[in-house]
Amino acid sequence: MAPHAPTGPATAVRSAPTSAARPIGDVPLHEAASTSTGVGELDRVLGGGIVAGAVVLLAGEPGVGKSTLLLDVAARWAAGGRRTLYVSAEESAAQVRLRATRTDALRDTLYLAAETDLGAVLAHIDQLDPTLLVLDSVQAVTVSGADGVPGGVAQVREVTNALVRVAKQRRLPVLLVGHVTKDGTVAGPRLLEHLVDVVLSFEGDRHSGLRLVRASKNRFGPADEVGCFEMTETGIREVADPSHLFTSARAEPVPGTALTVTQEGRRPLLSEVQALVAPSAAQTPRRVTHGLEGGRVSVILAVLERKARVRLYNKEVYVSTVGGARVIDPAADLSVALAVASAAAEHAYHRPLVALGEVGLSGEVRRVGGIERRVAEAARLGFGLALVPPGSNISLRGMRAVEVGTVAAAVDLLQLRPAKRRDPDGPHLRLAEG
Ligand SMILES: Nc1ncnc2c1ncn2[C@@H]1O[C@H](COP(=O)(O)OP(=O)(O)OP(=O)(O)O)[C@@H](O)[C@H]1O
Ligand SMILES: [Mg+2]
Repeated sequence: MAPHAPTGPATAVRSAPTSAARPIGDVPLHEAASTSTGVGELDRVLGGGIVAGAVVLLAGEPGVGKSTLLLDVAARWAAGGRRTLYVSAEESAAQVRLRATRTDALRDTLYLAAETDLGAVLAHIDQLDPTLLVLDSVQAVTVSGADGVPGGVAQVREVTNALVRVAKQRRLPVLLVGHVTKDGTVAGPRLLEHLVDVVLSFEGDRHSGLRLVRASKNRFGPADEVGCFEMTETGIREVADPSHLFTSARAEPVPGTALTVTQEGRRPLLSEVQALVAPSAAQTPRRVTHGLEGGRVSVILAVLERKARVRLYNKEVYVSTVGGARVIDPAADLSVALAVASAAAEHAYHRPLVALGEVGLSGEVRRVGGIERRVAEAARLGFGLALVPPGSNISLRGMRAVEVGTVAAAVDLLQLRPAKRRDPDGPHLRLAEG
């Protein structure tokens, strides 16, 4: 091919470029600078704030609180005097107004429109020239003249593409609500993930007010951050320090509890494991777990029995997390072992400490990811002692990190054996020590 021959099929039509290609170093950085949304926990997940022209999809199951969160974001954005447009395609303006009254989201520059037609939504954007658009939800907007059923794949793609174009042209940040159904079928956000810049999933537990926002895709920041919120009667509240949610506040040490630091994404969270051990006459004593994986707990119980001489075969064992936390992080293994050993011995250890480490089948304590971050979180919360896997090499002011090689060693250190089996000369932590 001659060097100057046009590339591509000879019939391709050329059009004028929208802007000249620039050396990459000449592209101004501020065009991708982010602005705080006014909600710290959301900023954290977004990677500092929202970028002009970015389209963010917030996906979640029905009733989790998507509208509540985005109305709150819109109100905080508008509180700075910025024109903000909230388009509701699912609820009437009066319904949204009612929610705004309940959640204290009435602002002078927060504009509300109830529209279900894409053309009308675009007209509102042209008329108002907002600095932020919230659309609730992308599946409820229809395109007249386009193929497919409203909410179906073709229409949702059309709506999203149009909004992405407008967002880029106007450098308008857009927050879209997307529905996910349990079976994930009808035009689920999966289809939209390629089209938008950021995908956030909004998760919650039916039985608690806790809500987590995670980024599963982020073109502007890390995709493993987690934001914590709490749903209350007066709306959604950010929880900047969630560690207290998963622990019980107690002044006195109690047998059968252990603290650990789990990770949600890259965020360390203090979590508590509680255990109850009771005598059983049954051939197969009960083992019940809440918030933890039953299989994992069984392994830890077997390790305790065989490798650390904690007798459980004739006992019922109940193990649970606090605050409805679901802990699947293997780093919590050691705390499960210590909670059960402490419950079996009816012996509480007297100094607040966190236990970190995965437990292997031979009873060894294995290294876990993010150990420095976890220990640093414990130190921040005022803990001065941590049991950590061998080779962790933690040196942190005010924190004593004791490396334990095996579950048995940890049980011995804390003297978690029934009184008659405790070895007074064995290794143990001098708990009064500073
Ligand atoms: N009057 C109220 N008092 C207290 N809490 C309320 C009240 N009304 C709604 N809620 C809470 O808000 C939640 C619904 O929030 P929201 O409407 O923001 O969810 P959503 O994710 O937008 O739901 P949908 O998928 O149906 O649009 C309810 O599950 C409830 O917990
Ligand atoms: Mg809603």
